[in-house]
Amino acid sequence: MDLGTPASKASATLSIDGERLWNSLMALAEIGATPKGGVARLALTDLDRQGRDRVTGWLREAGCHVAVDPIGNIVAIRPDRNGRIDAPPVAVGSHIDTQPTGGKFDGNYGVLAGLEVLRTLNDHGIETERPVAVAIWTNEEGSRFTPVMMGSGVWAGAFTLEHCLAQRDRDGVSAGESLRAIGYAGNDSLPRFAAYFEPHIEQGPILEREGITIGAVESALGQRWFDVTVTGQEAHAGPTPIEMRRDALLAASRLVIEVRRIAAQYPNYARGTVGQMQVHPNSRNVIPGRVVFSVDLRNASDETLVAMADDLRACATRVAEQDGVIVDVDEVVHFPPCAFDPKLVASVEAGAAALGYSVRRIASGAGHDAVYVARHCPTAMIFVPCEGGISHNEIENAAPTDLAAGCQVLLRAVLDQAGAITATPAA
Ligand code: GLV
Ligand code: MN
Ligand code: MN
Repeated sequence: MDLGTPASKASATLSIDGERLWNSLMALAEIGATPKGGVARLALTDLDRQGRDRVTGWLREAGCHVAVDPIGNIVAIRPDRNGRIDAPPVAVGSHIDTQPTGGKFDGNYGVLAGLEVLRTLNDHGIETERPVAVAIWTNEEGSRFTPVMMGSGVWAGAFTLEHCLAQRDRDGVSAGESLRAIGYAGNDSLPRFAAYFEPHIEQGPILEREGITIGAVESALGQRWFDVTVTGQEAHAGPTPIEMRRDALLAASRLVIEVRRIAAQYPNYARGTVGQMQVHPNSRNVIPGRVVFSVDLRNASDETLVAMADDLRACATRVAEQDGVIVDVDEVVHFPPCAFDPKLVASVEAGAAALGYSVRRIASGAGHDAVYVARHCPTAMIFVPCEGGISHNEIENAAPTDLAAGCQVLLRAVLDQAGAITATPAA
């Protein structure tokens, strides 16, 4: 397909509406709003349904055809200049589920920046050679259901649909039941994309610290997630002598410290986090008999990530022996570090510079749906700074001007890939 040349010309004259983008973010953040100014809208809850309904309503108003697949991924397609929606679109996407103490921008920004691009194209009567789509992926956060990046992982073939539908939350409710309850277990098959862009807040401190507006994201860290189960023996807190105890929480605590040591010891952006723990029977005067906790290991090199995981398993064996407990280490997520498409990354970087924004190449410490989408089509991400580098926190914040800048870079990148045909110059 000859996409012609008018794209950069059109995007040079077009301006997204930063205030409208901000207002959309604030309107979506009302659903699941927390007293501290954040958002708690966990995947596949009724609040998630309300968020999906609101955003798909906006996408329909923008003239999109909305498709929903069996894992609840949503793709809204703006037809090409011939009114067709069956050619591979240029897609923009992210997620609108949040962490329990989440913010207004993580994920939501990517989806609503995509919506803002569509609204801008509509305002200016721009038609495109390729359809342009906005994707909302199911359960990116992996907080209520494992695995993280569930919907994009199913789309990309990293997991089976059946495996993901069978996942259960801590109350025993399955992802499949939850999807049906909120009315988002669809039947559509989603298109493959010609290209994919995911704008996101950085979620780390680099851009803000360096005073840079745009991050052209080259790569994302690989991740390995584990469920660790420590089985000891419940016993009375009073009569049981110290040397007789098989304390599962004591053993788990030693392993938490080992996870921190592993993260500090390895090179290549090593990270290690224990974020979730269940203690059984969770009673003050019972020595804990069973503890289940999560481990999240990350690294920029898959070789190092493998070494970190081997180190964790070796620690588990040692602690089991030392404390007379059984330790099971069950891997539940593993994806290697991801490199995004060099040409698209370069186009984001060049587009940002041409628009007059400061820009640098950057690696993502967070996982994103883009990691799985990149297995199928040229993919790139656009980062903007967030306040204090803080995310997965209700105080997460970003400057409206930076969010608008990222969206402007996105518009240009999308038009370069989708090919703008007619443009009414901006007033
Ligand atoms: C996604 O939020 C991640 O954990 O990186
Ligand atoms: Mn995110
Ligand atoms: Mn997140």
